[in-house]
Amino acid sequence: MVRLTWGNRKEFNIDGIKTNKINFERIKLIGDLNDFSSNFWLNQLFWGDNKLVMIFLLSEFTGKINLIYIDPPFATGSNYILKIRMGGNIIKEFGYKDNWGKNLDIYHQMMYERLILMKELLASNGLIIIHLDWHVSHYIRAILDEIFGKERFVNEIIWYYYNKYSAGKNNLPRAHDNILIYSKGRSYTFNELRLKRDKPIKQLMRESVNGVLKNVKDENGHVKYRIVHDKKADDVWRIPCIQPASSEWTGYPTQKHPMLLERLIQIGSNEGDLIADFFCGSGTTLHVAERLNRRWIGCDNSKYAISIAIQKFLKQRVTNSRDNDFYPIELLALQNEETKKIIKSGFFDKKIEILRGK
Ligand SMILES: C[S@@+](CC[C@H](N)C(=O)[O-])C[C@H]1O[C@@H](n2cnc3c(N)ncnc32)[C@H](O)[C@@H]1O
Repeated sequence: MVRLTWGNRKEFNIDGIKTNKINFERIKLIGDLNDFSSNFWLNQLFWGDNKLVMIFLLSEFTGKINLIYIDPPFATGSNYILKIRMGGNIIKEFGYKDNWGKNLDIYHQMMYERLILMKELLASNGLIIIHLDWHVSHYIRAILDEIFGKERFVNEIIWYYYNKYSAGKNNLPRAHDNILIYSKGRSYTFNELRLKRDKPIKQLMRESVNGVLKNVKDENGHVKYRIVHDKKADDVWRIPCIQPASSEWTGYPTQKHPMLLERLIQIGSNEGDLIADFFCGSGTTLHVAERLNRRWIGCDNSKYAISIAIQKFLKQRVTNSRDNDFYPIELLALQNEETKKIIKSGFFDKKIEILRGK
């Protein structure tokens, strides 16, 4: 078997992990609890490093998550700086790191450990979806083959975003991301996805006669047709990048289009299922999961990402068919000197806006 190696590769043994040392605590409840009974599910939003969050979750959620989607840093070599309006001030703040040095050793170790933890949390019939692009999707695929088994590869979806400018001076403009899907077990949830055709087509009507497909004919012996408006989705998806004019736009760098998440969540889960996104950024996965009546766990280590994700729930009153409002959210964090200070300052109650430009 091909096995990816990198400088200082350290094996990661899940059995050696002590869960009782990490304790995330509720720092806030978001939403209206009045309409809910005391034992209903609370969606969970974690502010912190996802490795610690997943270790914390192991005791309660091992084998319980039906679908994991992650959109981690792509190892582009650039860090993201945010221009933020908060109160009356405009400030520049570090958004998130995507410069991992030339040899990517740290990046690979980071992803390797987290993917092992995700496999542990995934249900036996669950799917994991990893969103990347040309920078490292080939390396991560090798790591996924090692952790999940290459026979567990389900699909590589090519997301073709036709509306994003790419210079491509000495190459063709790069206009797609690579979305890898693996299953944990041999059988898994996979719902057929049908997409509307640009134009309806006329299709021969076929029926199975003793196991053989035959054309359907009318009483005069003429073949019959039907008009078809949709088709089964394949693995190349033409979806735009989200634009500032969209009501869903948050300004968070690398925010993904909700339509993309809608398709992925519909394929890999059913109503009531538990979805997790451990690199949730502005919370696209969480908002779509809510809209599609799934339960969810989200995590990001940027306080700005967490704040934007919360604001989006509050601002848009994301609706789901159950209650016409979003289910309450439990915000959790590790309590240490630094986090206590930020929580005490009321950071998560402040309105922030991410501005365009430098
Ligand atoms: C590509 S962005 C996700 C964007 C998101 N899909 C959206 O639609 O807004 C990656 C996110 O991963 C977060 N991140 C990076 N390393 C992390 C870690 N170790 N733990 C938790 N979050 C992390 C970053 O702060 C960033 O928000």
